[in-house]
Amino acid sequence: MSQAIHLIQLAGSDQSFPCADNDTLLRAALRSGIAFPYECNVGSCGNCKFELLEGVMSSCWPEAPGLSDKDRARNRGLGCQSKPSGPLQIKLRTSEKYAPQHRPVRTMASFVSSKSITHDLSEFKFETAVPVAFLSGQYALVQMAGIAGPRAYSMSNVGLINGHHQAGHWMEFQVRRVPGGQGSAHLFDQLAPGDQVEIDGPYGMAYLREDVERDILCVAGGSGLAPMVSIARGAFNSPKMSARKMHFIYGARTLQDVCGLDMLQTLPNWSSRGNYQAVISGEPEETPLPNGYLRGFAHDTVAQTFGETLQQMEIYFAGPALMGQSLLKTLIDLKVPMDQVHFDQFY
Ligand SMILES: Cc1cc2nc3c(=O)[nH]c(=O)nc-3n(C[C@H](O)[C@H](O)[C@H](O)COP(=O)(O)OP(=O)(O)OC[C@H]3O[C@@H](n4cnc5c(N)ncnc54)[C@H](O)[C@@H]3O)c2cc1C
Ligand code: FES
Repeated sequence: MSQAIHLIQLAGSDQSFPCADNDTLLRAALRSGIAFPYECNVGSCGNCKFELLEGVMSSCWPEAPGLSDKDRARNRGLGCQSKPSGPLQIKLRTSEKYAPQHRPVRTMASFVSSKSITHDLSEFKFETAVPVAFLSGQYALVQMAGIAGPRAYSMSNVGLINGHHQAGHWMEFQVRRVPGGQGSAHLFDQLAPGDQVEIDGPYGMAYLREDVERDILCVAGGSGLAPMVSIARGAFNSPKMSARKMHFIYGARTLQDVCGLDMLQTLPNWSSRGNYQAVISGEPEETPLPNGYLRGFAHDTVAQTFGETLQQMEIYFAGPALMGQSLLKTLIDLKVPMDQVHFDQFY
């Protein structure tokens, strides 16, 4: 089927970009290098709101939680859910920090294999039809046959080789089986090797900063393991970062949820530069924990272990919203400069 391309004009500026009628305004803008603010890309956070001034558009997901009734009444839309039906004029405040380092591309990808990490977390490997360049810590959108809307998954493999950002054909995702979740059920129960999905990426601002001369703290919870493992793999393979130390904290609910250390231990010089700490929040007091494990929440461990020395660290985190909010509050209370803190919330 042929695609119509429409011109999207940013009001009050000389910026415009083309958007296909089967693309969304946010993703098309980023493909053109325009710094359209966003975070989740899946209709949940509301960071990609804009105002429609002229033209007609439709929404991929009219009930998306990122948009309120008040927004709808004010002619606002979500960039990640809005598709043009013709040329549009929109009001949007761009912000340079959202300018893509690698412009996102859409490609078909073939499912290669999966392997289990824990009882509810597995790694899924895909081969993309065209090479996709990404930075460690970024995510992609995966559109599966018969599922409404794409799902965002962070890459767990490395986005750079020998310090150069290279485009590769592989993408690995570590996905948690969500009870009642359609996307995760499809990945876990229905995909067979050779099955095709559409992948669109890379997206996300919580990528590894290789030029920063600070030690690194990674905090992961649940499937937040994926981007933190990618950050670790990137950092330990980057010649620019050979003097950096890494502290890696994994917050798990129960003992059977603990994971990640085996992936980190294979990294070059992990034993001299890396340190892994598991923190368990949901085991009863009477259950003994293995040597070295801590009881509690990841954010409390971060505060107790590092205190104000966090102000000298580059901090990355990913995982459940509650963990993210608690950790962010801890970092703010400890006066950590926010430009040293990088995260994309999982919705
Ligand atoms: C930036 C980011 C990175 C993420 N990285 C990971 C990761 O590495 N590993 C991981 O396991 N999870 C990750 N997630 C969460 C993941 O994207 C899914 O939300 C989660 O796996 C549940 O999906 P599900 O299909 O199983 O559940 P469902 O309940 O079926 O779907 C939940 C999600 O699907 C989307 N959705 C639902 N209905 C529609 C619709 N009609 N149209 C469009 N969209 C719809 C919404 O975003 C919703 O949050 C990430 C999320 C974000 C935002
Ligand atoms: S709602 Fe569009 S980026 Fe989150």
